[in-house]
This record gives sequence, C-alpha cells and structure tokens, in this order.
Amino acid sequence: MKTHSLLMPLDMHLHLRDGEMLQNVAKLTSYTFSGAVIMPNLVPPVKTKEQVLAYKERIMSACGMEIQEDEFDEIFEEEGLSGGDFEPLMTIFYDNYDEDYLDDIRDEIFGIKLYPAGITTNSEGGVASFDVETMRPTLEAMARMDIPLLVHGETDGFVMDREAEFMSVYELLAMNFPDLKIVMEHITTKAAVDMLDKYPNLYATITVQHLLITLDEVAGGMLQPHLFCKPIAKRPEDREALLNVALNAHPKVMFGSDSAPHPQHAKESCGCAAGVFTAPIALQVLCELFDKHGRLDNLQSFVSDNAQSIYGICPEFKEVTLVEQPFKVPAKYGEVVPMYAGETIGWSIEDVL
Ligand code: DOR
Ligand code: ZN
Repeated sequence: MKTHSLLMPLDMHLHLRDGEMLQNVAKLTSYTFSGAVIMPNLVPPVKTKEQVLAYKERIMSACGMEIQEDEFDEIFEEEGLSGGDFEPLMTIFYDNYDEDYLDDIRDEIFGIKLYPAGITTNSEGGVASFDVETMRPTLEAMARMDIPLLVHGETDGFVMDREAEFMSVYELLAMNFPDLKIVMEHITTKAAVDMLDKYPNLYATITVQHLLITLDEVAGGMLQPHLFCKPIAKRPEDREALLNVALNAHPKVMFGSDSAPHPQHAKESCGCAAGVFTAPIALQVLCELFDKHGRLDNLQSFVSDNAQSIYGICPEFKEVTLVEQPFKVPAKYGEVVPMYAGETIGWSIEDVL
C-alpha cells in the first residue's frame, strides 16, 4: 500500500473560534499540524496583547499536547496515535495601530490580519477605505518590525469579481510598502495567481476546497451549503491556475485551509454562514490530489517548506504518515459538518510522530 510522509505540516490560515467550538475543533488540527496561523475574527475581534495572550492560552489548553481520551477517540481509531506539539501562530485584527502599540505587542503576534469592513464573518470593524496615507504609519511600522500583513482580498463588488477587483489594492500596497510582507489569503482566481510574480513582497495561501471545486460544485446543482465560503469558488480556469502553482510548488504559495467551522444549523439555514470545514481531512485530501497528478513529491513544499522559508519559522517537529487507504469521513464533528461528510476519501492518516 502506498504511503507518504510529511514533515511539520503547517496550516497558514485557520479559524478555531472560541468556547465550546474551540474545544470541539482544536485537536483536529493540532493532531496532524505542527502549527497554524490563527485568525482573529472573534466577537469582539482579537486586538490587544491581553486578548492575544488569553486566546492563545485557551487554544493551547483546548489542544492539549496529546490527543486525550474524548469523543474523537472513535474517529482517531487506533490507540497510540498521539498528536505531539502544536504552536498557534497568533494574529490580531488590523486597525491603524501606532508604532508604540505595535512595539508592545510585536513579540506576541505572528502577523496582522486585514479585513475589508463587512466583507465576511465578523469583519464589521475592518478597513472601510484603502487610503494609503491613512494606513502608511501603521504599515511602515509593520514593515520595520517585520510584521507580515495578511489580507482578505475582496471588494464589495459583484461576488464573482470581488477578488479580481481587489488586485488594484494589492498593487497599491505592494508598491507603496515594498518592505512589507503581504500575504494574499485564500486566493481563488487566476488574477491573484498572476500577481504573485509581479511583486517580490506578495505571497499567497490556497485552501483545499479551491483546488478541488468551482462554483459548479457549490451552486450548479442542488445548493451545497457546506461548500459555501468567502471568497466563493470561481471558474474552472481559476481552479486550473491555483492547481498549477500548488502542484508545482511555486515558492510563494502556501497551504492555508481557511477551515472555518460553523454549527450545522448556521449552515443549513435561510442565510447560510460562509465557511468550509476541512481541518480533519485536509492532509488526506491533499495527498490524494497531489498523488492523482503525480506530484506527491511537491506536497512537502506546499504544506510546510514554503511557509518556513517565507516566514522564516522553524516549526515543532512532527512527522505525519499518510496511507492510500479509504477513509470514511464522519458525518459530523460535534455540531460541525465537514467537507465530504459521509463520503469516502482515498487516503488516511496512518501515524503521527
Ligand atoms: O468563508 C469564510 N469563512 N471566509 C472568511 O473569510 C471567514 C470565514 C469565517 O470566519 O467563517
Ligand atoms: Zn479565513
């Protein structure tokens, strides 16, 4: 049976939420990933040093350092699978912070996440207009302190054009702040892929779902709420462009799941919340996809090495072995329905060291 090992997998964009939801989902990532970049869009958003430190502690405690005996035992199956260490890489919600504020919080954060106001879940307090001069003091201070800017890149235009329209904002930021590391989060379009090689300070994360689906899978037949996320999946040519850079291990592209858990009632309702929950299946599905395209050898770069080079990080040791053996995806993890719920995928986690 074919197996494949990955060293220190990293999820460079993850929503863990808080409270009961955090308790339900945290271990599903800490089990197989060495670290993850934690999104700050809680209510209220994570902005202060106190909030970051307290949230990080709640995450660490929800993860534990090993898989504990709990309701997920059945899902993890065999005894002896242990998770090892996991590092939450914390972010704060962008605001026009001054230099002293950033100086004080610098050591506690990995990056700052910028949301356009009202564009997605809990982003009401985001940036309302991208005026370079208003943002200049903050962005220049971030560049000096080597704090990366992670961006949700969508305008409030027509939904299929939002990301492409945002390219002019990326250009503005990349040109005006050449020393600032800017990450285009969860890109979904060929337009974003094309930007990567235009500016040395632009990087990108890509999710599992955007490598696999287009708008057809979301809304071409019966509406699939569990595949609805923001940015929404786009056209076949966009997916091709994303696949091309991921499969070929483009050095500026990293895996970021954007795994975004919502309770089943918030997804299967009138007014479906945006977010696809992929944390427990991401590595298995990526293995299957890269193997199908004969590119398994490039998966290590996509799920860890590129992020290590881009951000200059050295993650906790972890070795995850996957095996080409069917895995029936559970219908639910707690209250959350994962992508491929109830379906069988081709690869499973065999072991985690
Ligand atoms: O689909 C999404 N869900 N996109 C986002 O940008 C936010 C996320 C969430 O927090 O649920
Ligand atoms: Zn996100």
